[in-house]
Amino acid sequence: MTTFIAVLYIISFALFIYGLMGLTGPRTAVRGNWIAAVGMGIAVIATLLTPGMSNWLLIALGVAIGVVVGVPSARKVKMTAMPQMVALFNGVGGGAVALIAWVEFRTTDGYAHEPAYVAIASLFAAIVGSISFWGSNIAFGKLQELISGRPITLGKLQQPVNALVLVAAVVLAVVIATGGDAELLMIGLLVAAGVLGVVVVLPIGGADMPVVISLLNALTGLSAAAMGLALDNTALIVAGMIVGASGSILTNLMAKAMNRSIPAIVAGGFGGGTAVASSGSGEVRPVRSTSASDTAIQMAYANKVVVVPGYGMAVAQAQHVVREMAKLLEAKGITVAYAIHPVAGRMPGHMNVLLAEADVPYEQLKEMDEINSEFAQTDVALVIGANDVTNPAAETDPGSPIYGMPILKVNHSRSVIVLKRSMSSGFAGIDNELFYDAKTSMLFGDAKSSVGEIVEELKAL
Ligand code: TAP
Repeated sequence: MTTFIAVLYIISFALFIYGLMGLTGPRTAVRGNWIAAVGMGIAVIATLLTPGMSNWLLIALGVAIGVVVGVPSARKVKMTAMPQMVALFNGVGGGAVALIAWVEFRTTDGYAHEPAYVAIASLFAAIVGSISFWGSNIAFGKLQELISGRPITLGKLQQPVNALVLVAAVVLAVVIATGGDAELLMIGLLVAAGVLGVVVVLPIGGADMPVVISLLNALTGLSAAAMGLALDNTALIVAGMIVGASGSILTNLMAKAMNRSIPAIVAGGFGGGTAVASSGSGEVRPVRSTSASDTAIQMAYANKVVVVPGYGMAVAQAQHVVREMAKLLEAKGITVAYAIHPVAGRMPGHMNVLLAEADVPYEQLKEMDEINSEFAQTDVALVIGANDVTNPAAETDPGSPIYGMPILKVNHSRSVIVLKRSMSSGFAGIDNELFYDAKTSMLFGDAKSSVGEIVEELKAL
């Protein structure tokens, strides 16, 4: 039986890794997800076959609760709410690891009769799992707007409090590892780590939350791998390391695309979470506004149109009507491409997912580096609900919070048309010089309605 279980585990790792490879491209992502899910199913079966497994009723109850809660919420969740869903599910993973470490503490009499590596790995898993659970829940609360997306700090006390709870958790871990077996020690450790998760995430602004979630995801993976080491469970070690490694790489990529360092993100203070009025000084600057019919005419006489999608396109769910518009333009012999900024929207790959949903051919999706050199030959850049990712301040204003973030250079196009509802700022909460550029016209309104009107005008031309 042990060999059979080992073989099942090996099959499941192979499927995890093969599935992960599928996630590297939009064409293969759905299949990759399915393959990894089958791998997880096999790992669960292998675990259930482990000799000595009992408490079947409890296990069945746990599975039933997981299915009843998980499946409908995953099916119903809106694409724009995906980051908070990931936060919640990730938090549950971290919490489960912390609880397993606690159970191990109870069943092994405070790790007294266990080798040192088991105690150390379990204590690491308990601390990191608890940080991840509480940190992820705060991240969920912020993104769901249950708590303010603005940084919530303890002022001057912030750093001392962070240090104090971290030291408390480590000291308790050392006491337990050196023989302390009172259960209160373990509870104290879990509480101290949980408080650390809360006080570290609260001061971080809403705009940085997806990066924080990815970081917490990596931590959950590491804690699961550590627990796997303690329990001698290879499935947990491999799956945990895959999550830990891919989460770390994703965190790094996102931070790079926003030109933010991970320590600066964790130190907090950026990104308000809610849009604020555009001009901080209260000064009203003139902008040129346009109509759907003028936009349609301008595009109909273009050779090349580049669509620049952003968070607003996701909110408006305008991707299908955008695709319809692109087809009409293509029928007139106009070249259409889509400019994809790595952090457009609110989650990695957000725009790719939306456009794939609307059957936009993958060849038309151009990464930032590729499309930036093409804007100079573009007649119309149609910015649909994007803001920060087009803001020239990232290149020209060293005082701007997004200074240094690579942007889509839409202002190099011959003309720019921006579709949004008002002059409100994007997630970074700052004004966008692009809107006042002589080449720019604003088409105010909900992106879906505006593109719908453009479609009607194009049909009538
Ligand atoms: P944003 O800068 O957030 O701007 C989105 C714009 O969409 C807003 O200015 C808003 O203006 C407009 N909008 C909202 N609803 C709309 C609707 N129904 N119809 C038309 N327009 C609508 O978006 P972006 O350019 O995609 O930039 C993403 C931001 O999120 C960046 O700051 C990025 O750093 C941050 N961020 C992204 C990620 C990832 S992984 N994607 C992670 C962390 C942070 P109105 O209110 O005037 O309509």
